[in-house]
Amino acid sequence: MNFLSELGIQDINQSASWGDGYTDTQDAGVIESINPATGELIAKVNVTSEKDYDKVMQHAEQAFAEWRMVPAPVRGELVRQMADALRVHKDALGSLVSAEMGKIKAEGDGEVQEMIDMADFAVGQSRMLYGKTMHSERPEHRMYEQWHPLGVTGVISAFNFPVAVWSWNAFVAAVCGNTVVWKPSPKTPLTGVAVQNICNKVLEKNGYKGIFCLFIDGEENKLSQKFIEDPRVKKMSFTGSSEVGRMVGMKVAERMCKSLLELSGNNALILDETADLDLAVPAVVFGAVGTAGQRCTSTRRLIVHKSIADEVIPTIANAYQQVKIGNPLDSDTLMGPLIDEQAVKNFENTVAKAKEAGGEVLAGGKRIDGKGHFVEPTFIRAENHWDIVQTETFAPILYVMTYDTIDEALAMQNHSKAGLSSAIFTRDIKNAERFLSAIGSDCGIANVNIGTSGAEIGGAFGGEKETGGGREAGSDAWKAYMRRQTNTIFWGETPVLAQGIKFDL
Ligand code: UN1
Repeated sequence: MNFLSELGIQDINQSASWGDGYTDTQDAGVIESINPATGELIAKVNVTSEKDYDKVMQHAEQAFAEWRMVPAPVRGELVRQMADALRVHKDALGSLVSAEMGKIKAEGDGEVQEMIDMADFAVGQSRMLYGKTMHSERPEHRMYEQWHPLGVTGVISAFNFPVAVWSWNAFVAAVCGNTVVWKPSPKTPLTGVAVQNICNKVLEKNGYKGIFCLFIDGEENKLSQKFIEDPRVKKMSFTGSSEVGRMVGMKVAERMCKSLLELSGNNALILDETADLDLAVPAVVFGAVGTAGQRCTSTRRLIVHKSIADEVIPTIANAYQQVKIGNPLDSDTLMGPLIDEQAVKNFENTVAKAKEAGGEVLAGGKRIDGKGHFVEPTFIRAENHWDIVQTETFAPILYVMTYDTIDEALAMQNHSKAGLSSAIFTRDIKNAERFLSAIGSDCGIANVNIGTSGAEIGGAFGGEKETGGGREAGSDAWKAYMRRQTNTIFWGETPVLAQGIKFDL
């Protein structure tokens, strides 16, 4: 694996960094990064000690004291150089994402492309941190709103998008004048170290430290608890399950700190009676099987109009047989492994529960024996109200169900605790507009003739209900990383109070 040396990955990697190399923690345990396709060890990473965690936080705070006064477009220049560095290392980093997480190489590269897009976006944004000016009700007063950075921002990311999610937060937070401390998933620590290596070179070249920092926590999440409760962190962005997100949100709120939650989805795709099936079938398969169903935007429920069910359901079941499963680094593979053995067990339990509830397995349903954590892409006829259908399983399992009227389809789509992504395939403008209206999809993302996954960074990403309500990227993402201040300046001779109040001494 040549890409490891290009990314500065060694056999054993140090874990905590704020810019000039790594701390030398060796006594807090070790995480093994295992290639989920082969079961082989890629490399090890030392877990960060409590002492080194504190050093990281101190550096991030010290760096913030100066960074906040660097003009925003100059901060943008640092992020522009990050984009350049990522372009240079796109192939290598994409390969590491693929090797460590198990998504196919095209998707690993795509994820790095998303980082580059996000950096470019943030560079532009650095000249557009606009505040409004307004007319005061009082004479000779000037009034405006301006935006200031928050301080140290925390990012806790998940294994499924091990690098892109960090960039959605970090690049915008940095141009806004914040410093960023990142805790990657213990399932994908190497991609975190690799990105930090890239950051470190750019920071060093520009004479900075502490703008982008990293620490690694083990599976027991000892430091993560501390991180969530740390009063030095002024904004906490968390990506993960609704279950953990609820705890994070409450802990962060307890100390009146802001959180940004990007949690579970249970995304549905509606095929109405007019759907263009040449468009829809590949979109359904990519949405459900892409990233082995481990995106929070993966398609999990397919809601098909009764009149086309007999044609569509066998076509999709047949398409499932064509999905080439294998090593994600091979260019013709369409589906790689699940992340680990626990994920395979969850897959097996879910299929068993769906069968118990009365589900009919139309394709797949089994683990694939041999090396690595592979399972078959699975398609199950089911009913929407079943508990198992209402539960997000991070695996390539798609439930199919049928409907009669568009209102029934919309009610089924919205009948979910989560509210992340949704889609309809239709040629009927009335159905499309109804789906997009206030009585339509209740999700943060609603697409027409496009699948549920694969969102672009230009639009706000996130969802409602138990998805957590947070938004990353998109038109006004930057406001989430800044505090707003209203300023009123009097430049006249005779002061007056607002609301016409008289207070003469
Ligand atoms: C996630 O699964 O956490 O829309 C994020 C998509 C990607 C992001 C997914 N751009 O599928």
